[in-house]
Amino acid sequence: MVVLTANFIPSMPRLLIVTVPLFFITCGLFFLPRQYDTSQALLVPMPTDKNFTKTSSTFDVSYQEFWAELATALIESDPQCGPLSIDDNGVGSMIDFMPLQPHKEHPDRLVDFTEEDESALFHAHYAMRRAAQHLAPKLPFTKGKTGIVTTANARYMPIFLVSLRMLRRTGCNLPMEVFIDDWSKYDPTVCDTLLPSLNARCVVMSEIYDTVSSAKQPNHFQYKVFAILFSSFQHVLFLDSDAFPAYDPSVLLSTAPYTTHGLVTWPDFWAQTISAHFYHIAAIPEVPSQSRLSTESGQMLLNKDIHRESLLMMVYYNYYGPDYYYILLSQGGPGAGDKETFVQAALAVGLPFYQVRTPPGAIGRHVNGTFKATGITQADAGIDYEYLHPMRSHIHPEAFWQDADLSHPNPAVDKKLNRTHKAPPSPRPVFIHQNNLKLDPAKVLDDERAYEPDGTPHRMWGSKEDMEKMLGYDIERRLWDVVAEEGCREDQGSEKCRKLRNWVGEVFGWMDSIDRPW
Ligand SMILES: *[C@@H]1O[C@H](CO)[C@@H](O)[C@H](O)[C@H]1NC(C)=O
Ligand SMILES: *[C@@H]1O[C@H](CO)[C@@H](O)[C@H](O)[C@H]1NC(C)=O
Ligand SMILES: *[C@@H]1O[C@H](CO)[C@@H](O)[C@H](O)[C@H]1NC(C)=O
Repeated sequence: MVVLTANFIPSMPRLLIVTVPLFFITCGLFFLPRQYDTSQALLVPMPTDKNFTKTSSTFDVSYQEFWAELATALIESDPQCGPLSIDDNGVGSMIDFMPLQPHKEHPDRLVDFTEEDESALFHAHYAMRRAAQHLAPKLPFTKGKTGIVTTANARYMPIFLVSLRMLRRTGCNLPMEVFIDDWSKYDPTVCDTLLPSLNARCVVMSEIYDTVSSAKQPNHFQYKVFAILFSSFQHVLFLDSDAFPAYDPSVLLSTAPYTTHGLVTWPDFWAQTISAHFYHIAAIPEVPSQSRLSTESGQMLLNKDIHRESLLMMVYYNYYGPDYYYILLSQGGPGAGDKETFVQAALAVGLPFYQVRTPPGAIGRHVNGTFKATGITQADAGIDYEYLHPMRSHIHPEAFWQDADLSHPNPAVDKKLNRTHKAPPSPRPVFIHQNNLKLDPAKVLDDERAYEPDGTPHRMWGSKEDMEKMLGYDIERRLWDVVAEEGCREDQGSEKCRKLRNWVGEVFGWMDSIDRPW
């Protein structure tokens, strides 16, 4: 079951039915995990050398020279003031979005922030802005190449492998570059055998990053932007390791809004908490605090050719994120991270971006009267763009179009012409960001959300009917098939594998064959 933040039940376009993969319908009740068959759908370039990862992590001289120049620019644009701090009084970043109060002020929670500090940030920002302008023409990437980028450390690799299999089950064969921090995170079986069979490759970030010894080491959130920067693709779909599409996302990269804007982001549930000072520091006009929802950066589309300068400013905001920009851009505590750096970078350089307007949905189910969420659904950007979302205002407080919006102002006219009007259905989801219940096959069944309160195994996303209504097929069934496939990959006789197959057999076996009260 999906709960949209606006109280709106989507009626699904009939079109969706077309997308139901037939093999899934005809699949038996007890489906057993099997090796993913790459021979039919995927044309996978097999590694020609043994150390595939080493080859994938060898950057040509254009990358090395560029990174050396960029690192110099970053270091020279170091803000000459102490780290910023905020007092959020426990407010956090979960502030309700209030588009009906368009003039609401930006939150101001910086502590002891002086005009000297602001001026120091302003000077440093201008230095980087000029550097970005000069460096932009040299940004390295392979012209015309499209692919998917993610980052995964050892802990996230098992989760990522589930996401990757979900991606490939949609029929999407875009190449994928999986950035790992350094060789200590390298697993030869995964990187040199498994990933290449799924048209993905590990790239060891330290092989390029560490060529500049003066650059400070990135942390958690900062890897994302560096993975995008060092990837070989011009057209990038970035996915967090725990995010995956429900159907082939390739089309998103060949249609509007991607083709018209070159940067597409998705919304979070909450309002932005950007400090007004950010706009003064970036020397750009202030953007109203309620102009859009804050960004949820589990997925993103970026055209490096158009957004050269934006990307360099994204790097700047992340490089100086923990001490300065994460705090300025998301005054919800230090954990807020990189999410606002992407859109603000485009704003800072005056390039267009499109943030999907359909609010995210919480995916989960009701257990004993309480909604237990496990992840976030994000709408199809193309459908969202065509939907022409109304900004909520005093004359149209609803977030979605209503039947009445299409009717003639004089009801007698519609009546006379025997016309009825139906507002378009709300855009369907394309991505699931399973951020709250991690799908590590070794651990996922330890979570209570995979069971009824009495311990009976149970779906986590609600009924088959709800899934089919939302996406045209029972994605949760596919998901568990994939989780079991991955969980049984190394050893079909393991306890982990047995537990998963049991659970899957229980939930999608006999339970699926009876009329259930839920
Ligand atoms: C591949 O090369 C890296 C770096 O030289 C090394 O650490 C790793 O062990 C190699 N892998 C294999 C399978 O030889
Ligand atoms: C109006 O339209 C409905 C369905 O479209 C139809 O059943 C009905 O006969 C029509 N009435 C008139 C007066 O044309
Ligand atoms: C379900 O909720 C009710 C009321 O909140 C509570 O009394 C009961 O113990 C709960 N049952 C389980 C199994 O958690």
